Formats: sequence, structure tokens, C-alpha cells
Amino acid sequence: MARYLVTGCAGFIGSWITQALIERGETVRGLDNFETGKRENLEHLYGKFEFVPCDLRDPEATIRACEGVDFILHEAARPSVFRSLADPRTSHTANIDGTFNLLEGARLAGVKRIVYAASSSAYGNQPGFPRRESMVPMPIAPYPVQKLTGEFYMKSYWQIYGIETVSLRYFNIFGPRQVPNSPYSAVMAKFIFQMMRGERPTIFGSGEHSRDFTYIENAVAANLQALEAAAEKVAGRVFNVACGERHSLNETFRILAELLDFHEPPIYAEARKGDIETSEADISAAREAFGYDPGVSFEEGLRRTVEWYKAQYAAVAA
Ligand code: UD1
Repeated sequence: MARYLVTGCAGFIGSWITQALIERGETVRGLDNFETGKRENLEHLYGKFEFVPCDLRDPEATIRACEGVDFILHEAARPSVFRSLADPRTSHTANIDGTFNLLEGARLAGVKRIVYAASSSAYGNQPGFPRRESMVPMPIAPYPVQKLTGEFYMKSYWQIYGIETVSLRYFNIFGPRQVPNSPYSAVMAKFIFQMMRGERPTIFGSGEHSRDFTYIENAVAANLQALEAAAEKVAGRVFNVACGERHSLNETFRILAELLDFHEPPIYAEARKGDIETSEADISAAREAFGYDPGVSFEEGLRRTVEWYKAQYAAVAA
């Protein structure tokens, strides 16, 4: 029976993928170093999969974690564009060295396929929307450079060593389990948490810049489909995973404020350095290659996410 390894299994996206594989009846191993992952994301899954404490910066431990594995879903990373500006070295070693060590472990173990969490931030601020995979990447901050380096490594290991690597460029994935209370939290979780506490969220810039916000369930489905697709359709390739829409920060703020019955205006502050302006994906390549279809809309995703935070963090509500 095939064995799946999920890196970053205690993280936001990794824990949902781990759960989906377990629910499908697969044999799963998960690794995490709990630097940004949370034990509570796995509590309901303990006993149903093999957990391996492992930091991908440790080459030997990573090689051991890959032994006997057939498929890898590589979600482990030090996330946040903004955090990578403050501490580029730690992001660099986690994201680039960690990915390289994993590929080496995979090569030694004879892993068949790796689905890699790449980032839409790689497109940068070039003209032309929606973003297509054929565009030349123009990353700005260290984090997108690191994630793009991972894509190149994935492609190289397909071309040279024949590991079927697939890079999924995530466009602002949001939903339950995203950490809401770190300075580096993704905007959606952060705004929901702040509104629940009666605090006014800060919008960096005019708020007219936008993102192709994508609900977690769509990203998990894309991973499962990319695992199963025929190699000739996906191996060595890069795919956008998004909804194929753009929503401004001002619009997002308004919808969240309505859902949370929040009546204060946002605070506007200077735009963040390294931030990209607009993000909107063309998702036709993923649709054609593995039947990707974002089943949960932006609005429905927002509703589900708000409901989850309300239930989970009821004690913090103002
Ligand atoms: C996000 C992800 C990154 C992923 C990328 C592409 C996080 C933390 N970042 O980057 O891992 O690779 O999408 O999918 O999950 N903003 C505010 N106020 C705040 C916080 C943010 O206005 O308090 C703005 C930011 O300036 C930015 C937008 O909201 O314009 C989104 O920011 P953020 O959620 O941090 O995500 P990205 O930088 O787009």
C-alpha cells in the first residue's frame, strides 16, 4: 500500500491535507517541527497516522523521514512575505535548504511524486492579468524568491532524477486553523480575530489592491487531484491554484465587517515594502491537467471561516 508523507502536517494547509488523506483511508506519515505548526491542529488525528518530529533543515532526519515513502505533499515552510523581510536568513534556510533536503531524501527513497506548495507571490508586480503560468516570474521579497527556487528545484529533480514533481502556486489560501494572532498572520484570519476583539484592523496602502483569495477546501482538492493525475499532464509543471477572481482589501474588510457585525472603519497605514499590488489567477491550466474546479466560492469561504473562528475563539469576542 502506498505511503504518503505530508511535510508541515501541523500547519494550516498541511493539517487539512493530512486529514483528507486519512479520511480517504491512506497510510500517512506527517512531519513537523512545530515552529509555526500547532499541536491542536492534529489532536483529532493522533493514532490515525504516523507522526515524525523533524526539521527539514536537518538532512539526516529528513532522509529518515522519507524512507519507505511513495508520495510527498510538501507544505512545510516558513510562511509570510512580511516575515521574510524581517528575517530573511531564517526564511531562506527553512524554505530553500529545507526543500533541497527533502528532494534529496525523496531521491534516496525512490519517491514517485511530490506535490509542492509554491506561491503566487512569485509573479511580483508585472503587468498583465490574469496571471498565467507562462509569465516570467518577477519575485520581489525574499519569500517569493525562496518559493520560486523550490519550483526550479522541483523541475530539476523531475528532469534529472525522474521524480514526478508538481508545483501548485497557491493564491492566498484562507480558512479554519490559520493562526490569527501573530504579527505575520495572513490578512483574513487577522482581520476576523481583530474584529471579534473589537479592534480596528489596519489596511496597508489604499485598500484597493487585491488578492485572489482561495478557500482551503479548494487547495486541498487541488493537491489530491495533482497526486492522481497522469504524469504526462503534470510532471515537472507549475499550476495556479486560486478562484480566478480578484477582491480588494477594502471589499474584503466590508464583507467581514458585515458578517461580524463590526461597525468601525479600518485604519489605513503606509503600504508594506515588498507587497504586491494585484493578484488574480488564470486557473485553466489546472482545470485542463487535473480537473481542478474551485467548488467553494470566495463569499461562501468567508462565511465558513467566520463561523469557525466564532466557535473556536468565542472567549475572545468583544
Ligand atoms: C500570502 C501568504 C503567503 C503566500 C501568498 C500567495 C500568509 C501570511 N501569506 O501572502 O504565504 O505565499 O499569499 O498565496 O499566509 N494586509 C493588511 N493588513 C494586515 C495584514 C495584511 O492590509 O494587517 C495586506 C497586505 O499588505 C497584503 C494583503 O493584505 O496586501 C495580503 O497579505 P497577507 O495575508 O500577509 O498575504 P500575502 O503577502 O499576499
